[in-house]
Amino acid sequence: MQAVNFLYLSQEEVIAAGGLDMDGTLAMVEDTFRLWGKGDYVQPTKPAIRWGPPITENTRGRVIAMPAYIGGDIDMLGIKWIPSMPMNPVKHGIPRACALIVLNDPYTGVPVAVMDGTVISAMRTGAASGVAAKYLAKQDASILGLVGAGVQNRTQLMAISRTIPALKEVRVFDVNQDKARGFCEDMATQVQPALRAVGSAREAIEGTDAFVTATVSSEAYVQPDWIKDGALHIEISSWDTHPSALVIYDKIFVDDWKTIKHGAKHVSARAVVEGVIPESRISGELGEIVAGTKPGRETDKEKILFNPIGLPVNDVSEATRIFRVAKEKGIGRTLPLWEKPIWV
Ligand SMILES: NC(=O)c1ccc[n+]([C@@H]2O[C@H](COP(=O)([O-])OP(=O)(O)OC[C@H]3O[C@@H](n4cnc5c(N)ncnc54)[C@H](O)[C@@H]3O)[C@@H](O)[C@H]2O)c1
Repeated sequence: MQAVNFLYLSQEEVIAAGGLDMDGTLAMVEDTFRLWGKGDYVQPTKPAIRWGPPITENTRGRVIAMPAYIGGDIDMLGIKWIPSMPMNPVKHGIPRACALIVLNDPYTGVPVAVMDGTVISAMRTGAASGVAAKYLAKQDASILGLVGAGVQNRTQLMAISRTIPALKEVRVFDVNQDKARGFCEDMATQVQPALRAVGSAREAIEGTDAFVTATVSSEAYVQPDWIKDGALHIEISSWDTHPSALVIYDKIFVDDWKTIKHGAKHVSARAVVEGVIPESRISGELGEIVAGTKPGRETDKEKILFNPIGLPVNDVSEATRIFRVAKEKGIGRTLPLWEKPIWV
């Protein structure tokens, strides 16, 4: 009984266990936001390794450790360790981010699984926006804009196209126009709405009911007068919108205000730190809306910003979903931590 084994899952095995099942991810992420809203979690502020000020994350890169415990039926402890090197796709032909997740039994603390977290991380980020769109987009939203044709906007589209059922048209802009075209070709086989690559960020944003900014830009380009009444703006990356623009939003929601404020990097935090808006203008956290303790969208006119930092609890819960499916289906390899501990 003293032997400790854990399940190892490569990226291919994560996918075989349902890693790309966005319906499953959406359900898990929404449940996790509900538990967050009820306070059934433990999550310290995430430490980051950087080689300079926050803006260098988009040049040199960074690494974050994201530990969490999530309660309810999930009842799991874990950590995601995720480097982000923005030049990877261009210089090395590998993804910007490359994550590893460890799950631990919350009572003995022993590891139960180690797995690729790259797919899980992108899927849970997309699903968080899908849940945000469910509560914060207009019911009849039909046009979506995507700025950035990278990994994140793939999962943003997978999720949002499921939670905004009236969606008909998607406009995609990337500074790399070939990439935007390739994105449209690829994603057209996966989602219903018609996809179109456009020639500027303005075309991807102006007149849309919802738009996502998910780039590695170090400069703000979103212009407030492009944003129409009733629009939902989801800012996934950090520097695309200037803090001064935040005065135009009727409501600003985040996923974890304490961590965002502490990091002072996301546009919602910079707008508060720079005195553009008072802290009281932060309307709340998505978990509070899902748990029913705060209202989301209340009128069709409201311009709403959702500015998430990404929750470690969502990595742990989504990894738990994959772990449980993998165990049930016999996917993955069992590895020993030890046969018998040398010291007790
Ligand atoms: N908030 C969260 O929860 C969360 C989670 C994961 C990633 N992120 C952030 O999302 C961002 C995107 O990640 P990714 O994995 O999609 O990266 P990626 O490298 O796969 O894609 C980024 C894309 O942005 C494009 N781009 C750069 N500058 C642009 C500009 N000015 N206008 C239009 N396109 C531009 C690039 O050409 C590239 O195609 C990163 O900044 C990352 O840190 C946030």
